[in-house]
Amino acid sequence: MTGLEGRVALITGGARGQGRSHAVALARRGVAVALVDRCADVATIAYPMASVADLAATQALVEAEGVRCTTHQADVRDLDALHAIVADVTAELGSVDIAIANAGVSGMGLIYEQSAGAWSDIVDINLTGTFNTMRAVAPGMRDRRWGRIVAVSSMMGRASNPTLAAYCASKWGVIGLVKAVSQDLAHVGVTVNAVAPGNIATPMVLNDNMFHTMRPDLENPTADDLAPVLAGLHLQPVPWLEPEEVTRAVLYLVDEGAEHITGTVMDVSAGASARFTA
Ligand SMILES: NC(=O)c1ccc[n+]([C@@H]2O[C@H](COP(=O)([O-])OP(=O)(O)OC[C@H]3O[C@@H](n4cnc5c(N)ncnc54)[C@H](O)[C@@H]3O)[C@@H](O)[C@H]2O)c1
Repeated sequence: MTGLEGRVALITGGARGQGRSHAVALARRGVAVALVDRCADVATIAYPMASVADLAATQALVEAEGVRCTTHQADVRDLDALHAIVADVTAELGSVDIAIANAGVSGMGLIYEQSAGAWSDIVDINLTGTFNTMRAVAPGMRDRRWGRIVAVSSMMGRASNPTLAAYCASKWGVIGLVKAVSQDLAHVGVTVNAVAPGNIATPMVLNDNMFHTMRPDLENPTADDLAPVLAGLHLQPVPWLEPEEVTRAVLYLVDEGAEHITGTVMDVSAGASARFTA
């Protein structure tokens, strides 16, 4: 038995990567899981999104832990779809107690080159998608006077880098959103926090497009060639962390004992936080 046993969690971007890691860890604690993922590429994003097979694989991993799991193919930009998913999950698994607003995309482009379409996709998915997720789960949490919301920002929501205008703006926005929404829900037993990961070993970072963009000097760059570039973004000399390291922060924020932690940002970024001004 754990303090989370019997709860229900909704995880966006749950088909792979960090979302999958959060799903499996919550399942191990007896939490039923609803996975939401687009499972289709985004035209302006240069690497593939998760597939339907990825979503099914995560569902199988969750069910192997002995809890129920539903899957929902939807885009977090679609608020009506998220409202419908919350209603379906409530009917199938029970009321949504925990929401992990994790779906996100990254795209690079200098400000004098980036298309309006890429800007919109990144900001709409990362920021408006997080708002939509909160908007869909908040009424039920308020009514039951219990809820845990964790949004996934980034170390790029605390700092900046060239070519990342849209991504940085969206992830700084997530932190502002978290702080404001934590105020709306502080009186009804619902906590709202952010995690801010550094470089994490998922397909968002470890993909061919990223290797070529970051190492234009090489003909066939690999993850090993990207490693020194990424390590420079951290303080500790590691290029990337594993998704499970972010999961530990997420678990801490949703588990028993964290009921008075709200409106905060937890950095999991190999010391990048030491360079932030606050
Ligand atoms: N990987 C990193 O280095 C890193 C660092 C900091 C923050 N993050 C953030 O962590 C979160 C998880 O990313 P990840 O590292 O697991 O990458 P990932 O690409 O493996 O996972 C992202 C998931 O979101 C899904 N998704 C994308 N757009 C969607 C949409 N519109 N609607 C629903 N689902 C959608 C994708 O299909 C995918 O399954 C993202 O918000 C990302 O910005 C990642």
